[in-house]
This record gives sequence, structure tokens and C-alpha cells, in this order.
Amino acid sequence: MSSSVFIYGASGYIGLGVALGMRRAGYRVYGMIRNEKHSATLIQNEIEPIVASSFEDAEKIADILASCSIIIDAVGFNEKLSPKILEAALRTGKKRTNDGKIPHYAPLFVFTSGIMTYGDTSATGRRPVDEVIKPQSRPTKPRPGASASDVTNMKEREDFENQVLASSCASLKTTVIRPGFVYGGQGGFVADLFYNEPLVIQGRRDMRWSWVHVDDLAEGYVALVRAPRSVVDGELYNLAAPNDNPTYEELRTAMAKAQGRKEKIEYKAADGDTPSRWDTDSIINPAKAMNELGWRPRHVGFVEEIDTYYKSWAAHKAAQSAAK
Ligand SMILES: NC(=O)c1ccc[n+]([C@@H]2O[C@H](COP(=O)([O-])OP(=O)(O)OC[C@H]3O[C@@H](n4cnc5c(N)ncnc54)[C@H](OP(=O)(O)O)[C@@H]3O)[C@@H](O)[C@H]2O)c1
Repeated sequence: MSSSVFIYGASGYIGLGVALGMRRAGYRVYGMIRNEKHSATLIQNEIEPIVASSFEDAEKIADILASCSIIIDAVGFNEKLSPKILEAALRTGKKRTNDGKIPHYAPLFVFTSGIMTYGDTSATGRRPVDEVIKPQSRPTKPRPGASASDVTNMKEREDFENQVLASSCASLKTTVIRPGFVYGGQGGFVADLFYNEPLVIQGRRDMRWSWVHVDDLAEGYVALVRAPRSVVDGELYNLAAPNDNPTYEELRTAMAKAQGRKEKIEYKAADGDTPSRWDTDSIINPAKAMNELGWRPRHVGFVEEIDTYYKSWAAHKAAQSAAK
């Protein structure tokens, strides 16, 4: 495989997972990171680190970016940075295609969004939502104790998704991925939160979210970039396992048991009348990715193998602490 892939945010949970998947698929992979401390991990995994304290410094990376036919934003939505990354991809596309005159050299740009963009999917009667359902995104409020940065404004993220898709042109092809909640390996923000915070369920206990193993997610990105551009250009894809959506209560109970916690779950009523982003069902239908890209998630489920995932998360945390 001679194509090169450029990944913004390659030190992140999704970014590293996708970088590893791309490398396994034979691509040359450049991983853009802002902190030198992650370089060794990338190098050990055959990924070439590009370190820049500010990703807005586009000049520094222009030549490497132009050598890549695939550009992945795995930082996710950031109101200041995301448009800059898209601009850099558009500039690269113009350079590669001589302003669109040789469109077969147009790179593919993939933006990483997320299923919470849909907002509350319970209006569909808990049927999984597919990509043609218009999101019900609304400004979100932080859950108790969360910092302001915990609140990605889903309406703004939805608008940016639309901007990415509308940017498709002769010199750049564009796609958006909405991953479900991700588990496995080092664990993501949900594992960090639920393994560390008090065992409290606030609001509905029967909410369900779709989950996907980080390696299956990475395989989804690989399937996407391998698909004909004519199929994926201007398209959105949900990536989550079809039937992996335990309730909030099942999840917290299984995680607490794996962790050996002795306390009982404390149930609290929801506070306020604007639900936080956690108080929504987010169940997505990945049929489009399965049918169009041939994607097949292979892991049996988050709760089903929770002991393995807890041990893996805890071992990663121990290794990170030892490295400090
Ligand atoms: N994890 C999930 O379950 C999940 C599910 C669906 C969607 N998503 C979305 O996917 C995106 C990535 O999630 P993640 O879990 O992989 O997050 P993560 O582990 O926090 O990774 C984020 C990556 O972006 C980098 N980054 C963040 N802000 C940056 C900035 N201002 N400048 C340069 N680099 C920056 C981080 O660098 P550092 O390592 O230096 O911090 C890291 O490499 C997010 O938008 C998230 O909402 C996540």
C-alpha cells in the first residue's frame, strides 16, 4: 500500500486507534500530535510523529500533508481548531490537484464527530437512528461536577459536520464519521469517568447508548478510506456495533462489579428541566457502513467482556502513572 494517511490528534483514544488500524492496513501513517511525550508510542507502532504545539501552524506541515491522499481529523469538534484543519485540507487538495484541474489526486478528508450529535433519539421510539434522521441537537448543559470543556455544543458540531460535507469539491472529497461510545484498550473518557466517579445514577436508569470497540472502529475507518471515493464523498457514516447498547444501569453495575466496588448504586432524580447530554438515548444504526463499506464489527460487546476491558484500562492507567 503506497498511500499515506495524515491523522490529526494521533495521541488521542480514537486517533491512536485509527492510526494503528491504518498502519495494520499497510498505509504509511503520519500522526500529528501537540505533545512530544507521545512520540515514542507512535514510533514504536510504526507511525511517524509530527509534533507541533499549535495545529494552526499549517506551513510547517504543508509538504507532508500534500503527500497524503487521506487526511483524518481525530481531534473532533473544536470550534476554533476544526475550521483550521478543514482549511488546511482544502489548501492541500488545491495543491495536489492543481486547483481542481487534476481531480483524481483529490485527497479524502474524514472528520470525526460522534453519535451525541443526534441529540435525544428516544423520539424515534428507541429504534436506532440512521444517517437520514435529522439530529435534534440542542445546546447541552454539563452534568453536575463537569467542567465547561465537558460540554461540546452539539448544535455547533452538527453545523460543522454540514460544513465539512458541503466542502466537497473537485480538489477535496469529504466524509463524516459518527462513532458510538468507544471501549477497549486504554479506554476512553467514559471509562475514565465511570471508574473514578461515585457510583451515582442521576435521572433515567434505562438510557441506552451504542458502543463500538476501538479496533472495530479503526477497521471502519479503514473500510471507509478503501471504498471508492464516489461512494463515500459527501456522506456520513454511523459506526457502532448493531446490538451493543446496554442500559446506563447495566453498564454502571457491570463496570462496578469488574472494579470490585462494594458500595451500592445511589439513584438520584434528574435535576433541572434541561437534560444533560447523558440523559438521552443514543442508539444508532450502522447498516449504511455495513452495507456500503462492508464493515463488520467483530467484538461481542462491552458488558459481555467487561472484566477484560477493566483490566486493560487499569493496566494502562498504572503504566501512565509509572511513566510520570
Ligand atoms: N471516546 C469516545 O467514546 C467518543 C465517541 C464518539 C465521539 N467521540 C469524539 O471523538 C473525538 C476524539 O475523541 P477521543 O475520545 O479520541 O478524545 P481524546 O482521547 O481526548 O483525544 C483527542 C485528541 O485531540 C488532541 N487535541 C485535543 N484538543 C487539541 C487542540 N486544541 N490542539 C491540538 N490537539 C488537540 C489531543 O491531544 P493531547 O493528547 O495532547 O491531549 C488528542 O490527541 C472527540 O470529538 C469526541 O467527542 C469520542
